[in-house]
Amino acid sequence: MKTWRVIDLIEWTTEYFERHEVPTPRLDAELLLGHLLQKSRLQLYLSFEMPVFQEALSKFRELIKKRIDHTPVSYLTNHKEFMALDFYVDPRVLIPRPETEILVETVLELQKEPCRFVDIGTGCGAIAISSAHHRPDWELIATDFSIEALEVAERNALNHNCADRLTLLQGDLFEPLQQLSDTHFDWIASNPPYVSVDEASTLPPDVRKHEPEVALFAGVDGLDIIRRLVTDAPQYLNTEGKLILEIGHNQSYAVQDLIKSEPAYQRCEVIQDYAGIERVVLASI
Ligand SMILES: C[S@@+](CC[C@H](N)C(=O)[O-])C[C@H]1O[C@@H](n2cnc3c(N)ncnc32)[C@H](O)[C@@H]1O
Repeated sequence: MKTWRVIDLIEWTTEYFERHEVPTPRLDAELLLGHLLQKSRLQLYLSFEMPVFQEALSKFRELIKKRIDHTPVSYLTNHKEFMALDFYVDPRVLIPRPETEILVETVLELQKEPCRFVDIGTGCGAIAISSAHHRPDWELIATDFSIEALEVAERNALNHNCADRLTLLQGDLFEPLQQLSDTHFDWIASNPPYVSVDEASTLPPDVRKHEPEVALFAGVDGLDIIRRLVTDAPQYLNTEGKLILEIGHNQSYAVQDLIKSEPAYQRCEVIQDYAGIERVVLASI
């Protein structure tokens, strides 16, 4: 019987993924094998000649099958890096995207002093927990409609030692904030669902088939949740408070119009992502 070495498995899987049109075949092969053997990619490179035995081969075959069915690598490995921190993820939450780091970086750049910060629709907790990590003196609240997502966020808060400073609340947008004695914030941040129903068929199968619908879709124009956030945020913002939102690639003008039509906002800025797409909107009271 053939003995499979690490390098053989990487090469075979890369070719198999290529044939099945997996977008990043070599990377995915390495990440999945590294996950299985509990090795970083560097360690994997240093173990090319190492034999891989039957039990691991069977498990690897299962992972390959799931990847061919478009299960995202992060759901198979239960890891995603965000703001250089390792987040636990599974199909209960959206996998945090690099674009969202721009939102967090903008907040960290502008807010050096202690503040009250709420992340609406926290998912795995990426925005709130990475902010907590960088700003130990902030008071943080994070909400989500999905109880399952909040379970994941709680796990990440514990992993990153901020569970004692992050209050997690379940409910629809601002509604759960009513449970707090102080309902006013210096920052309201959100990466809300913003995909239009019509765009569903254009999403990559990894996203369409496996990520939670409640994290993706927001009505006919994708603005159902953003509209409510823009309208309701002012009543929860302190003087000079700020609302910061991630938006879809084609929503900048529409969202700026929404903000301009709310008299409470004094200023509105748009921040581009690394691809030059207007991705984050910052509105100040
Ligand atoms: C695009 S995901 C963002 C998750 C995370 N903040 C991130 O950036 O990776 C949107 C999140 O909003 C939550 N959500 C959707 N509708 C909501 C609502 N009406 N109220 C509160 N949360 C909601 C979803 O469950 C999901 O976790």
